Amino acid sequence: MIRKLTLSALSALALTTGAAFAAGGEATTHDVDFSFEGPFGKFDQMQLQRGLQVYTEVCASCHGLRYVPLRALGDEGGPALPEDQVRAYAEFYEVFDPALDDYRPATPTDHFPTSSLDNAPDLSLMAKARAGFHGPYGTGLSQLFKGIGGPEHIVAILTSFTGEEKEEAGTLYYGNTAFPGGWIAMAPPLVGEDVEYADGHSNEIHHEAEDVAAFLMWAAEPKMMARKQAGFTGVVFLVILTVLLYWTNKRIWAPLKGKKTA
Ligand code: HEC
Repeated sequence: MIRKLTLSALSALALTTGAAFAAGGEATTHDVDFSFEGPFGKFDQMQLQRGLQVYTEVCASCHGLRYVPLRALGDEGGPALPEDQVRAYAEFYEVFDPALDDYRPATPTDHFPTSSLDNAPDLSLMAKARAGFHGPYGTGLSQLFKGIGGPEHIVAILTSFTGEEKEEAGTLYYGNTAFPGGWIAMAPPLVGEDVEYADGHSNEIHHEAEDVAAFLMWAAEPKMMARKQAGFTGVVFLVILTVLLYWTNKRIWAPLKGKKTA
């Protein structure tokens, strides 16, 4: 009984937070056709590298990625930077080493630093912590093919600033139609052409926003491709097993088929 109660309390909570986000976000959160969506979706390595660049040059001055190890940047299926580049990238950051009682340059075995601005949330799991849109419920096919819009929510936040500002209790808030309540404490981080991509890709604001959102999706679920592959193998295996069992069943009962039982 107690367990039942907690469960229903939890689902009520989930419903209200869901509704709060839907109320603020649904109007401006649009579906984006990310390469990693759907049962066969894959991360686009070049997009992840561009997103890493946007994250490093823009977002990292306030936000952190505390759960993401720097060595993961070299992983197959991720940005897949060569080992020397991962090492060089890690050295950008300083970490506090209790053994030395001092700061030292980070190595690939360290994690990305935590947020340097107190009220800026850590972005490691942000792409999975937010739902940009809900439903339609029923078959679940929409979720299967489009996801629940976490990365889309990030794109929407980055591209839905209205240009208005207001000050409340000493904090500046910026009008943003994708943020619940309509005001966010983050100054517009992207205006377009903020970074220069090495691969010559367009650096218009919505491209930059999609690239960094894809990168944050990878950060939140670096093993997504392996998970999808394992799921697919599992389904193929079950289909073969189903066919085998069907024929086995037929064969076992074949001698008794058509006989009168009395
Ligand atoms: C000047 C500091 C600063 C920079 C630069 C910055 N942010 Fe933020 N960000 C914040 C703060 C502060 C908040 C918390 C806002 C709030 O809760 O009102 C925030 C919140 C967020 C959120 C959470 C929104 C939500 O639904 O709760 C996301 C996502 C985000 N930032 C992404 C980014 C990305 C991506 C970049 C780089 C393109 C970036 N930020 C650059 C300060 C910054």
